[in-house]
Amino acid sequence: MNDCLIAPSVLAADFGRINEEIEMLNQSQADYIHIDIMDGVFVPNISFGFPVTNAIAKKATKPLDFHLMITDADAYLSHCKDSGAEIITVHYEACNHLHRTIEAIKGMGIKAGVALNPHTSVDLLTDIYDLLDLVLIMSVNPGFGGQKFIPNTYNKVSRAREMADAVNPDILIEIDGGVTTANYKELQSKGANMLVAGSFVFNSDDPIHTIASLKDV
Ligand code: DX5
Ligand code: ZN
Repeated sequence: MNDCLIAPSVLAADFGRINEEIEMLNQSQADYIHIDIMDGVFVPNISFGFPVTNAIAKKATKPLDFHLMITDADAYLSHCKDSGAEIITVHYEACNHLHRTIEAIKGMGIKAGVALNPHTSVDLLTDIYDLLDLVLIMSVNPGFGGQKFIPNTYNKVSRAREMADAVNPDILIEIDGGVTTANYKELQSKGANMLVAGSFVFNSDDPIHTIASLKDV
């Protein structure tokens, strides 16, 4: 067991048996449940909306980690709050007034994160890094589960950790996309302390065991 937080993404769950899937996560070593909201505009896919997240929230005993892949995050922050969000992460590339959005999330008493697409440098967060509870480094292009991990992520995690050491040692450094037991140790050694895993967990024969394997040091 180690301190790295694991957040299975329900995007890869079987929505025909969502209550059972959430119950499985409740019984597992998962620390958070990762909720991917997509609007079909910021990313070329649509996932699910608040009727679904409300149903998940009702069943979940683990905290919810909302990842908003949408162009107008500000308009939906209160919906996320009503749906029990403990963390809300918005995309750097989608927010014109990122500082204002972060302040709005924190003003609701919710942890605030910023997600970076694979092409977006961590250094662009220099002037806001100390205000963040979390930085989410996308290790695939957002929009779909089951994609291949992009190795340059390791360099970005190292940079995020350097910046954390300088101004925000408690920040969560979350990695999202293509996370498996083939890369989780290296991600942690570079400084990641929160890992999202979708298809690796839900497509496995024994998801509870797979989640536990991501907790092994
Ligand atoms: C991708 C989502 C991810 C996705 C991860 O846009 O943000 O959270 O569910 O899925 P895997 O682990 O299958 O890459
Ligand atoms: Zn995600």
